[in-house]
Amino acid sequence: MNTIRLSLGPFQGITDAPFRNVFKKHFGGIDKYYTPFFTGIQKDHAKNLQVEEIDPACNDVETLTPQLLSTDGEEILRFAAQCKELGYKEINLNMGCPFPRVANKKRGSGLLPYPEKIESMLSTVFERIDLKFSIKCRLGYFSPDEIVPVIEVFNRYPLSELIIHPRIGKQLYKGEADVPRFAELIHTIKAPLVYNGDIVSVESFERISEVVKPVNEFMLGRGLLANPFLAEEIRAGLGGHPHASLGADAAPLSAVPRNDVPNDKATRLYAYVVDLYEDRLRHAGGSPKVLGRMKELWSYLMHAFDEPQDIWRKIKKINALKEYEDAVETVFREHRVL
Ligand SMILES: Cc1cc2nc3c(=O)[nH]c(=O)nc-3n(C[C@H](O)[C@H](O)[C@H](O)COP(=O)(O)O)c2cc1C
Repeated sequence: MNTIRLSLGPFQGITDAPFRNVFKKHFGGIDKYYTPFFTGIQKDHAKNLQVEEIDPACNDVETLTPQLLSTDGEEILRFAAQCKELGYKEINLNMGCPFPRVANKKRGSGLLPYPEKIESMLSTVFERIDLKFSIKCRLGYFSPDEIVPVIEVFNRYPLSELIIHPRIGKQLYKGEADVPRFAELIHTIKAPLVYNGDIVSVESFERISEVVKPVNEFMLGRGLLANPFLAEEIRAGLGGHPHASLGADAAPLSAVPRNDVPNDKATRLYAYVVDLYEDRLRHAGGSPKVLGRMKELWSYLMHAFDEPQDIWRKIKKINALKEYEDAVETVFREHRVL
């Protein structure tokens, strides 16, 4: 029946631990989260893993999968061992990052044209890894045909999951996700398969999920950042209870001290935005450096409102906390949540 699984894709600079925790408190429908990628795990007990981002005291080890960007089997094993020690059950390898400064070093999606390198990396990993290992990738870097020999390599190993975003690295985020190409590949892949790309509405979810049947796991990305209700709406569209997985500690809506917001959606969105900002401010000791991450979020979240470009013009030029706070009040007072 309606047994879909939905995850939130990692976004470097946005979906960090404070974001994930605040998001979970306010919205339902997401089963699984991923950290934005870690890099440079040079030794055991690496300093860059002694951070809140992965600390089990600040994260749910059952529903969070830490991600690494690497091409070095030994580094992957060091990362896996440290994640295991922290209580995590799975790690994910980033083979999808399209940015030239990463891909030019044959990392991220830049590794996809080199199946022999992938084979040698995975043979090292699977000799010794003792927790679940999944991969997130694209169709290729230069060409969507690169995935074919790469799948042959993947099929030799017991991946816990393969997430495919059906674009090529060279495209960055331009053009459309190639859903028909993803569908053609389904029967050639042994690992449990997850679809990722361009799910921005219930309508696009329904259209894409029809084409990629029987795949029933989906990673949401920019669509969920732009419309945090999306996972609930997808589940409601499938006949589920939209708030079924809203956390027990979700903020009671009556706690939002406002009566001038026009509907329930606006009330919830306002509570979420304020909570995230206050949480980030607490973490940053009141520093205006939180504005960067909030603005990055608003570059997607503006689409939850009418007149998004108008909102973006207001938000993007802000560089003081008070200005930001005033702009958010104005947005909620003057704009309608769609
Ligand atoms: C600013 C930005 C940062 C991202 N950071 C990561 C990352 O750290 N790891 C990763 O696997 N994907 C990353 N992604 C890719 C997204 O997780 C997702 O795969 C992509 O946006 C496609 O899905 P969508 O069309 O649903 O947005 C990033 C994307 C953007 C735009």
